[in-house]
Amino acid sequence: MKNILVTGGLGYIGAHTVVELFNNGYKPIIIDNLSNTNIEVLNRLEQICEHSFSFYNEDVCNTDALTNILKTEAIHGIIHFAAFKAVGESVQAPIKYYKNNIGGMTSLLEAMQNQGINNLVFSSSCTVYGEPDHSPVNELAPIKRANSPYGRTKQMGEDILMDCQGLNTVALRYFNPIGAHASALIGELPIGVPNNLMPFITQTAAGIRPSLTVFGNDYNTKDGTCIRDYIHVVDLAKAHVKALQFIAQNPNNHFEVFNIGTGNGYTVLEIIKAFETVNQIQLPYQIGNRRAGDVEKVWADAQKAETQLGWKAELGLNEMVQSAWQWQLQLKA
Ligand code: UD1
Repeated sequence: MKNILVTGGLGYIGAHTVVELFNNGYKPIIIDNLSNTNIEVLNRLEQICEHSFSFYNEDVCNTDALTNILKTEAIHGIIHFAAFKAVGESVQAPIKYYKNNIGGMTSLLEAMQNQGINNLVFSSSCTVYGEPDHSPVNELAPIKRANSPYGRTKQMGEDILMDCQGLNTVALRYFNPIGAHASALIGELPIGVPNNLMPFITQTAAGIRPSLTVFGNDYNTKDGTCIRDYIHVVDLAKAHVKALQFIAQNPNNHFEVFNIGTGNGYTVLEIIKAFETVNQIQLPYQIGNRRAGDVEKVWADAQKAETQLGWKAELGLNEMVQSAWQWQLQLKA
């Protein structure tokens, strides 16, 4: 059983990945400073897996603490999720983002170096493409200046990894993860008012928010609203297992990137319609202004992940909107 350190392992994507690691015979060791999640997630993970996990309430910026954990737990590889991710907040508080996202990564790399650990999977984002010239976008598309400090931390993160010779790394460029685990025991739980579309939709449907604002309907798309590649978080979590297998099978790999998306683009209005139809619920919404920094359309060419990782998204939009709603319903209960 290989020990895999999961930084940010109690966050939205991290928690779903812990389940998939466990299901695939790895031993996940979780580190999380609980800055954007709750310790209850650990109990939920233990309920789903019927297994207890090693957990460290530590900040990845603390290199000494990380080094000690790497030493104590005989870590084979690391999946690095721990980072801030609110695009708007990163514009208001760029230093906070650089300090945590870049500082966290350099701290982790130093601790890895101290312990001679080279295997790393990094959470990157489709945001590295900025507004792509065309979609589907593949990994060879130019990296344009990102729209936010958050986006730049992902671009810089990839650059730092490329500079660190001797590492065996895979960066996964996520498109838009939504949905929740089939048990409805874990899902996305933003603290405060959600920034992202799906938690805003589910909270509106639950009556927590009076109505949803669609950010602009004058884009050059079929119904005027932005297009994204929404991917089920469980599919996304499974890609991390494939990335670890890729690292194991390619010991001479230094740095490889993969798009992790479904290859399908949906508009905001299509997501609302799917949510309403599948869950038989009416969503109050109105059209508002464009949101600063939004990309008009982006969806993935995920062929490289299919050929080289043996990974392909399996769950469709119906499962995404249905599981997101089930998660919200159990939160209310
Ligand atoms: C953004 C980042 C992505 C990052 C993610 C993490 C960019 C281009 N994308 O995704 O890299 O990983 O945040 O949080 O920086 N929308 C509404 N009303 C709402 C909320 C959203 O209409 O109340 C629309 C947005 O305009 C957008 C779509 O829904 O068209 C998706 O938005 P969101 O869920 O916030 O994700 P991104 O901005 O695509």
